[in-house]
Amino acid sequence: MNLQSTTTLNNGVKMPRVGLGVYKMEEGSDVKEAVLSAIDIGYRSIDTASFYKNEEGVGQAIKETSVPREELFVTTKVWNDEQGYEETLAAFDRSMEKLGLEYLDLYLIHWPVPGKYKDTWKALEKLYKDGKVKAIGVSNFLEHHLEDLLEDAVIKPVVDQVELHPRLAEPALRDFCTQRDIKVEAWSPLARGKYFDDEVLQNLAEKYGKTPAQIILRWDVQHGIITIPKSTKSHRQKENADIFDFELTSEEMKQIDELNTGERNGPHPDEFDYNT
Ligand SMILES: NC(=O)c1ccc[n+]([C@@H]2O[C@H](COP(=O)([O-])OP(=O)(O)OC[C@H]3O[C@@H](n4cnc5c(N)ncnc54)[C@H](OP(=O)(O)O)[C@@H]3O)[C@@H](O)[C@H]2O)c1
Repeated sequence: MNLQSTTTLNNGVKMPRVGLGVYKMEEGSDVKEAVLSAIDIGYRSIDTASFYKNEEGVGQAIKETSVPREELFVTTKVWNDEQGYEETLAAFDRSMEKLGLEYLDLYLIHWPVPGKYKDTWKALEKLYKDGKVKAIGVSNFLEHHLEDLLEDAVIKPVVDQVELHPRLAEPALRDFCTQRDIKVEAWSPLARGKYFDDEVLQNLAEKYGKTPAQIILRWDVQHGIITIPKSTKSHRQKENADIFDFELTSEEMKQIDELNTGERNGPHPDEFDYNT
């Protein structure tokens, strides 16, 4: 396996197992340079969202790189106040205009806005059937949201992108998704560095001559979790990609699994303030 290794989604589309998250990267040259740096290192998957307000810079990087479009995998998401059938179709057009792309690889519902996400899903199904997006999925969906969506969905989501790191390992949600052939994708996989001083991670880092960030990302990959660490810095992008020359034993995987306390750093999807 390497940085360009892919996993096959339930519709046959191949998605890189490791990608670059761009949340909080500034629109314009900051995000453009960070994406160009990542592509140069070998990243092929970029995760943005209309909410991040940096789709233009992402698009600019895609335009400027010599890596062909079809070798890249671009994800964006429809934000909460853009949800609903017609609204989502319009939001998609706005995102595509900013990205400057002919097609998108993956379009996600950013959060399960109550009363809206089913209509939003219908719009995603239309975009998929029209060939404008290669795959459609969801984010921040719990089991009950997925169950509800699957009741009327014609097309199954390919991924559920959720907050996931050793302290929030989501074993039940992962099992639920595995049984339905939905891939789990980790957002904030590094928990923004919050647990790097954990003893288990420190000991494994020392054993393998790696950093706690690399141990966590390797744990993701070995669990089959798609992961999208964010860094604006080339040296950290390189570090986060350098996880393919060692393997955690099953005992070590278990030690990391046991760090799970269910602690969230982001909002709980059922408690999110959907009115703001
Ligand atoms: N669907 C959703 O609701 C949702 C929510 C949040 C995030 N996301 C996606 O998930 C991506 C990743 O999550 P995230 O950005 O929240 O957090 P993250 O990837 O867990 O952590 C990023 C933070 O850690 C730092 N960092 C990165 N690599 C490091 C390393 N090797 N050593 C030390 N520090 C390191 C970064 O700083 P520097 O940049 O300064 O290196 C940044 O402050 C986002 O960018 C976004 O694409 C999705």
